[in-house]
Amino acid sequence: MARHIWRPMATTSMTADSSSIEQAAQLLRQGGLIGMPTETVYGLAGNAFSDEAVAAIFAAKQRPQFNPLIIHVSDIKSAQVLVQFNSLAECLAREFWPGPLTLVLPRLPECGVSLLAGAGLDTFAVRVPAHPVAQALLKASGVPIAAPSANRSGRISPTEAAHVAQELGDKVAMILEGGACVVGLESTVVDATGEVPVVLRSGAVTAEMISQACGAMPQWAGQGSAVHSPGMLASHYAPLVPVRLNAHEVREGEALLAFGAHLPLGASQMLNLSEKGDVQEAAANLFRYLRTLDDPRFSAIAVMPIPRDGLGVAINDRLARAAAVGRI
Ligand code: TXA
Ligand code: MG
Repeated sequence: MARHIWRPMATTSMTADSSSIEQAAQLLRQGGLIGMPTETVYGLAGNAFSDEAVAAIFAAKQRPQFNPLIIHVSDIKSAQVLVQFNSLAECLAREFWPGPLTLVLPRLPECGVSLLAGAGLDTFAVRVPAHPVAQALLKASGVPIAAPSANRSGRISPTEAAHVAQELGDKVAMILEGGACVVGLESTVVDATGEVPVVLRSGAVTAEMISQACGAMPQWAGQGSAVHSPGMLASHYAPLVPVRLNAHEVREGEALLAFGAHLPLGASQMLNLSEKGDVQEAAANLFRYLRTLDDPRFSAIAVMPIPRDGLGVAINDRLARAAAVGRI
């Protein structure tokens, strides 16, 4: 079964070596913040046991304190001392960890993770990242790592080390190089506290994959369920230039974010998410291309329609948020 459609392939660019990872681990233990590569997007990493480090993450991102952070650990055992697993969660973890899936589960009272990280909820979101540099940092530091995406709140998530430097360069003690993120979209967030999984945020682990692997068809947040994710604001991932969706033609002054082989003419600049119409390739390119086209020379970024299958669901979700509120 091709469940790991995010393709855990090796990155081509240089990655951090063991001495920089050791240095980062030490900085982390001392309360510093680190730019950490993961297979999804780069994270702004801090020691999850430290109230000061977690507070510094919220301050650096200018993130509202009601929006909780994901706690990263190296394996399922390390997750089981932080949150309460049920059989559904065990199945999901076994099938998809390490990888781009985050599980929301009841917090264990004595787990030691800063309450601020969970924004006062009685749950924590936990994830085991697959990226070798994230894994090495987790092992070297010996602490769980709280890490939101390493962008300023509401902006485009970073998929390269250079993006972290642009977003938060003056807030981090160090950025670990891990190449371009192979998935390119944030992890799927699933509330697994009940018998039916609830997808709070779509990602590379799709509802179909969850249903096939664990026999429970997920609901979507808001669909006949009170569960929701505090971070799923309508306007998010937003470039400064307006984003126009489902574009079949290009208007005066617009840049084109294309998909597929049949392209409209007339764009001031064009970047093609995937010439061959592959949604995985499109996901990996999405945030980098949005960042490149977010240039005041353009009147808008016109985005061609992207099919809603597989990873296309998550791409359309992020694009809708990039285009939301006060935008055309
Ligand atoms: O791929 C990812 O998940 C990346 C990398 C760095 O791991 N991290 C990331 O974190 O995207 P962030 O903070 O940008 O998004 C975390 C999402 C938010 O929508 C937040 O509201 C939700 O997870 N979340 C965290 N804790 C939660 C909880 N206890 N209950 C419900 N939602 C939660
Ligand atoms: Mg984020």
